[in-house]
Amino acid sequence: MQQELKKIEAEARRRLELVSDADGVALIRSEVLGKKGSIGGVLRGMGKLPAEERPKVGQLVNEVKARIEGFITDAVSRLDNMAESQALEAGRFDLTRPGRQVEFGAAHPLKQVERDILSSLERLGFTVADGPQVEHDWYNFEALNIPEDHPARDMQDTFFLAPRVVLRTHTSNVQIRTMVKRDPPVRIVAPGMVFRKDDVDQTHSPVFHQIEGLWIDEKANFRDLKGVLKRLAISMFGPDAELRFRPSFFPFTEPSTEVDVRFKDSKSGWLEILGAGMVDPAVLEAVGYDPEKVQGFAFGLGIERIAILRWGIDDIRTFYENDTRFLRQFGRGAL
Ligand code: FA5
Repeated sequence: MQQELKKIEAEARRRLELVSDADGVALIRSEVLGKKGSIGGVLRGMGKLPAEERPKVGQLVNEVKARIEGFITDAVSRLDNMAESQALEAGRFDLTRPGRQVEFGAAHPLKQVERDILSSLERLGFTVADGPQVEHDWYNFEALNIPEDHPARDMQDTFFLAPRVVLRTHTSNVQIRTMVKRDPPVRIVAPGMVFRKDDVDQTHSPVFHQIEGLWIDEKANFRDLKGVLKRLAISMFGPDAELRFRPSFFPFTEPSTEVDVRFKDSKSGWLEILGAGMVDPAVLEAVGYDPEKVQGFAFGLGIERIAILRWGIDDIRTFYENDTRFLRQFGRGAL
């Protein structure tokens, strides 16, 4: 039986070295390894062997099969190489055909807006700061002059993770995080994700993105705030954008304003993009600053809203659906 296996292996090897096409390989495979093939014949003969010899012969059969598979692989790659060099010689490759297009990834439109805003503000001397998304009540509310049970908490419907632990409702927590750590002057911008129990509609999402700005020194005033925001609007939207400063209320700024944008000659109305104001003395006191010595302003803008305006997008939800047909239109900006 061993002799027979050796013969089968040698014969298969010889044939596979000579074979000249894929059909030939397939034929040899079925004649040797197939159900009715020569190896199968050996296996069928095993029944006649004494029981103690069977495992040894079985193992031998497996080894021979593995070696024959190896010869088949060699034959296939020899035929592939041959076909390629024949095709090249025959001039069947058209070297003048354009290459296959490679698809490049791009930054998400919200990321592009974030980067543009940050780089515009960095040119005005702001540096980037960071803060946690899971936040203690004190940083998200209390130090911002929003005590527990104050009606202003209703402005931002909150997700609570534990009694005094929230998903931050705005990036204003980074104002507090920064000021408790650093002495004035401070001039920071802080991008990040924020969370509110808001109902979803065309301009509202329960998870969205803000950029916070904070400028504190001895004399930063409301005129400086307007100057910064106007510069920012021009760099984001170009000269055709109109800004409207509306008096508003935030517990952590006084006076406070909300800013709306619209485009001249456009039929769509004003869209609110940010809240801002002079930092309330109570906030400066909460972080240990002296309101007699320093002052300044803060603003918090919604990144989605800016992207909506900039590209004329009619529904905020399209940013989160990951539909590549939508995202492909913003193929700008390296990853
Ligand atoms: C605030 O969050 C204040 N922290 C902003 C601020 C910072 C005021 C510093 C003063 C000083 P408001 O809740 O209005 O404010 O949200 C700010 C911006 O976030 C809005 O102008 C809007 O552009 C955007 N925004 C608010 N809610 C949503 C939402 N559900 N979906 C998408 N964008 C939203």
